[in-house]
Amino acid sequence: MTDPLLAVHLERGSRTPLGAQLAAAVRGRIGDGTLPAGARLPSSRALAADLGVARSVVEQAWAQLVAEGWLEGRRGSGTYVAGSRVAAPDAPAPAAPEPPRSLLRLSSGHPWVDPSHDGAQAAAWRRAWRDVGAAGPPDGYPDHRGLADLRAALAERLRRTRGLDVGPDDLRLTTGTTDGLRHLLTALPAGPVGVEDPGYAAAVAQVRALGREVVDVPALDPPTTASGLAGLAALYLTPAHQHPLGPVLPAATRAALIGAAREAGTVLVEDDYDSEFRYDVAPVPALASLDPGTVALLGTVSKTVAPGLRLGWLVAPPDVLGRVDELRGTTHDSPSWPAQRALLGLLRDGYVDRAVRSARRVYARRAARVEQVLGDWLPGAVAGMYATLPLPGEQADAVHRAARDAGFDLPLLADSARSSGATGVVLGFGGCTDAQLEQALAVVRAALV
Ligand SMILES: Cc1ncc(COP(=O)(O)O)c(C=O)c1O
Repeated sequence: MTDPLLAVHLERGSRTPLGAQLAAAVRGRIGDGTLPAGARLPSSRALAADLGVARSVVEQAWAQLVAEGWLEGRRGSGTYVAGSRVAAPDAPAPAAPEPPRSLLRLSSGHPWVDPSHDGAQAAAWRRAWRDVGAAGPPDGYPDHRGLADLRAALAERLRRTRGLDVGPDDLRLTTGTTDGLRHLLTALPAGPVGVEDPGYAAAVAQVRALGREVVDVPALDPPTTASGLAGLAALYLTPAHQHPLGPVLPAATRAALIGAAREAGTVLVEDDYDSEFRYDVAPVPALASLDPGTVALLGTVSKTVAPGLRLGWLVAPPDVLGRVDELRGTTHDSPSWPAQRALLGLLRDGYVDRAVRSARRVYARRAARVEQVLGDWLPGAVAGMYATLPLPGEQADAVHRAARDAGFDLPLLADSARSSGATGVVLGFGGCTDAQLEQALAVVRAALV
């Protein structure tokens, strides 16, 4: 059975050792069926002579392939192609696996980060990080509440953009929304947590990871009576832009909810993730601005600057923050000092405000385009960086499949739903180019009509 191996070409000048080249060639011939299961290989001495290499080269290759299970040695009778790993003698050669196709995920959470990063912004970004380098390394652990200057700068921004009457002592730095939720829940009394259904899957996962029961709350019709909230330690909501259905929590519901939560002793947890991106009306003030004693607010830079920074904040009543501090003071569980310092530089430099303004322009244009193309299937105005199309399950699956065939991974509403059984598709328009969005819109529309 020397023939298939006599044709093996070994490159003497190659950086790949001769034994490894021979092993690769034999693997290939086993894989394509040229060397079928059970075939006997020539002796190392004979093949070495045929190929003009040292016998140790062949021995090395055989030993490697035996170790990998391609070959087996039979005592006293030679080396054979192993039976179980390869095709039968006259079975067709196994088809080469399809290379995985890379899909562009049009995620609801992927923001647009200015790809050109024009002059002023790029310079501000570099300046912020240069300052971090010049100031470090930090001495000891950072303030576990977050750097004081950064808390002050964030409080100023929250007063200006979210209508919150807060100072530096009213907020704590986190590594993002779910981290803030974790700190908050560890400081609240035991008990289940209501979470919107459909709702943010990461919040559900976080609540469960902390050993708390998740109670499904209708996303567009949360309980507004004390009896409806009874027993809930907290209720997690996305009032500015219900994730993932989209609507803003109406003013009357806000007032009723706060009254009910006060009476029931439930903490309302406001996930304020993308509130600055509204195009039909001005951003709606935070729910927490109505009653900071009842509402804790979770903020993030993931939509305004970049999710990779992993920074956010928790605004909560003083007694709750006191309990958060007790634990964090012991665990040193706070965001990294360099990231905090850089964000401080970016805030002071006006970078964050400029980034929000430019992203808002891009989103507003894209939101209008989405409304233009898919308006018939949209329940309302598009905000933030995604649009949600509620659809019957089968139709949602068909749209999802059509998008996939065209190279797009469109999130299914069902992935954010629990007992509600909500179905539809979500089209994120932040993390793509205009051209990709046009392509995706055409595919989705074609699948709908
Ligand atoms: C509802 C919701 N909240 C918060 C976030 C941001 O989370 P983080 O601050 O952990 O990046 C996202 C991002 O996708 C989100 O969809």
